[in-house]
Amino acid sequence: MKIAVGCDHGGFELKEAIVEHLQKRGFEVLDKGIHECKSVNYPEIAVKVGKAIQDGEAERGILVCGTGIGMSMAANKMKGIRAAVVSDYFSAKFTRLHNDTQILCLGGRVVGVGLGLELVDIFVDTEYEGGRHQTRLDMMAEIENQR
Ligand code: RB5
Repeated sequence: MKIAVGCDHGGFELKEAIVEHLQKRGFEVLDKGIHECKSVNYPEIAVKVGKAIQDGEAERGILVCGTGIGMSMAANKMKGIRAAVVSDYFSAKFTRLHNDTQILCLGGRVVGVGLGLELVDIFVDTEYEGGRHQTRLDMMAEIENQR
């Protein structure tokens, strides 16, 4: 599985840890930056990771900012993208099972490296259940077509 990863200055430390962790686990990681801890506007990084999903360059994405919220808001404005901010195990699992979320958003200032890496593992290891949940995803896609 290819995973695109990106962050702003609020998520830099956790993003670096995620890249190393996923590579050690054998995943191909597309690091969309930032590559040094400098101030950056999170929407530009969210778009890079979202585009990697839209283009089929990566199957999953992970975005990290201070809270995870700005990244998720930006990514969810992109067509076909389902991004979720998560800070607990249950949500990390069920946003994959029920929402087929492609992009996990984490708050580097919220979860820290220890919990952050555990949430990443749950996210990449859990498959979408499909079935009745697909109807709901189709309804969300329809909302997107209305605007
Ligand atoms: C940057 O200071 C901070 O606003 C950003 O990382 C993020 O938390 C926004 O949602």
